[in-house]
Amino acid sequence: MSAPRRLRQRAEELRREIRRHEHLYYQLGQPEVPDFEFDALLEELRRLEEQHSELRAADSPTQRVGGEPLEGFRQVAHDPPMLSLDNTYSDDELAEWFGRLDRLRSGAAARAPLDVVTELKVDGVSISLWYEAGVLVQAATRGNGRVGDDVTENVRTIRNVPLRLSDEEYEVPSKLLVRGEAYLPRPTFVKLNEERKRAGEPLYVNPRNTVAGTIRLLDSAEVARRRLLAIVYDLVEPRAADTHAEHLERLAAWGLPVGPAWQRARGIDEVRAYLERWREKRRTLDFDTDGVVVKVDSLDLRRRFGSTSKAPRWAVAYKFETEQVETRVLAIHAQVGRTGALTPVAELEPVFVAGTTVKRATLHNYEDLERKDVRVGDFVVIEKGGEIIPKVVAVRAERRSKKHPPPPFVPPEKCPVCGHAVARLGDEVALRCVNAGCPAVVRESIRHFVTRNAMDIEGLGEKLIDQLLEAGLIHDYASLFDLPAKDAALRELPGWGDLSARNLLEQLERSKQRPLGALIFALGIRFVGERVASLLARHFQTLDVLAAATEEELVAVEEVGPKVAASLRQFFADRSNRDRVARLAAAGVSMRATADEAAPEAAPAPGDNPFAGKTVVLTGTLERFTRDEAKKHLERLGARVVGSVSKKTDYVVAGEEAGSKLDKARELGVEVLDEVRFVELLGEV
Ligand code: IVH
Repeated sequence: MSAPRRLRQRAEELRREIRRHEHLYYQLGQPEVPDFEFDALLEELRRLEEQHSELRAADSPTQRVGGEPLEGFRQVAHDPPMLSLDNTYSDDELAEWFGRLDRLRSGAAARAPLDVVTELKVDGVSISLWYEAGVLVQAATRGNGRVGDDVTENVRTIRNVPLRLSDEEYEVPSKLLVRGEAYLPRPTFVKLNEERKRAGEPLYVNPRNTVAGTIRLLDSAEVARRRLLAIVYDLVEPRAADTHAEHLERLAAWGLPVGPAWQRARGIDEVRAYLERWREKRRTLDFDTDGVVVKVDSLDLRRRFGSTSKAPRWAVAYKFETEQVETRVLAIHAQVGRTGALTPVAELEPVFVAGTTVKRATLHNYEDLERKDVRVGDFVVIEKGGEIIPKVVAVRAERRSKKHPPPPFVPPEKCPVCGHAVARLGDEVALRCVNAGCPAVVRESIRHFVTRNAMDIEGLGEKLIDQLLEAGLIHDYASLFDLPAKDAALRELPGWGDLSARNLLEQLERSKQRPLGALIFALGIRFVGERVASLLARHFQTLDVLAAATEEELVAVEEVGPKVAASLRQFFADRSNRDRVARLAAAGVSMRATADEAAPEAAPAPGDNPFAGKTVVLTGTLERFTRDEAKKHLERLGARVVGSVSKKTDYVVAGEEAGSKLDKARELGVEVLDEVRFVELLGEV
């Protein structure tokens, strides 16, 4: 039965009204009505569409709440490819870019300053949007630049991306391809992390990584909850004017969220003025910008200049330097990690840096601290990159009082948590609490045990672990498996109920079937990371055989050296460790290799491929893979993935925001692969 005309009209009216409010709110930043009124309109429309399904339309604002989870993403080819940008870091490099383009522009025109457009570089992930007849029909991630994931369902949930374009001012082309950036506003990021903290879940590191993860979630309802936003920065097709600036004006008129601060600039001097203005002012924005993008304004010139396989010649990014500020060290505390290692942390006089107030910074280790000679009361320089935890990079020793200089810092002799003696083992830099029963060590080892790549016990975050420890329901990782017998007590914990208790018990049960490599990794044996754990699992096939292996047998395993072998022997020689492992086995945790962890003979031999036998360093953020995924691909092909760049490194795979490792690679002449090239090489295998 079709809906009465009155209802159809009401639905249309609501959609129009909601779109108008979305535009006022997101594009113009001038809402007319409070949030609850907007929500009421949306709710009324949602009800109408629910009762009369024929009223539902793909471009209805109600479609933003997200739908059923997908099985996987379809692939979308990008034509033209989504390229990257060349970066410049200094005025000289910027001048070189202008010089290069001047040489490419021949004749008289070359003497006139080049007309460009300057825009802020939004730190998120790139997206490509197709509109047909003014309606959003497809959205894709950048992927490897040539092929990306179809994330239409997810992008529909981004409130400031119009599902239908407005043709009030300019006619909307029948097909329109635009590109832009999805991002997470900082306040939303902070709120999201606060919620995660309350739930005891691991915190997100920075907004950019969070967006990268969010945009590729299969569950669009979850994406909707994260409240991403987007900007568009390029009209790719069709050409609608002579200049990029006019294109941006068109995009805005169609209702698309063009970046807020673009400007026309004539020649490098006006670009410099723009950079000066935004270097500080960018802090006032609610999103992260890591630089400015300078683009040739004339679309004819743009076509003439063309692109390399990686980046257009007609655009360049100017990256802002990492912000450094000075503040004072009020105290130096020690944090105790899973292996008992003490990390010195400086408590600082609060200082505002890169958009947030910083009260604490890491000092890495005591050797570093001593080398820098950081003292309580010193002025220090701290730096905050994209990450949340800032670091102390230098000491302003010249600002110390000459008369009463603070005394040199004395590293602790006792563990700040359990009071047990600390020691420096062998030639290690770290100071360690050597008490295996130290509450901090126990807590951290449980946290490690449950992580995704270890036993993958989802939802058991920091807070919950603390709660279980405090309630005396667990005392080490093995005792997690005693919880089923204590489920009455579990359900009575503050904030717990039947459901959360049942969930946890189900997760525990599931974790008993984890691969042997994951279990070995979960035990938290020093120097045994995921890679080595998985090699050990393949080699020994059961935990018993591994535990009984001699040092000689251990070093026979690929990538296991004397240090790792000694650590393994030490671990299994310790009675309390053996006891914990026995308790895991008694609880039914699988101690055998899975079919996937077949013995090395059966494993696919790394054949003739560009990565076989090579040493590779991953740095920066890749769009197509998480660090873990890239590592797995490489290891499958027989590459060794290591953490630092040296002359022995064969390749450095550099994603976005690659920092010092990339510099080091360039310095040493190590071959650098960008993501596009990396994917190409993987594809050749
Ligand atoms: S123009 C052909 N403009 O930065 C590439 N990119 O580092 C044209 N980005 O992948 C890109 N804000 O996703 C352009 N205003 C802006 C931008 C911007 C952020 C991203 C973009 C690109 C990355 C390159």
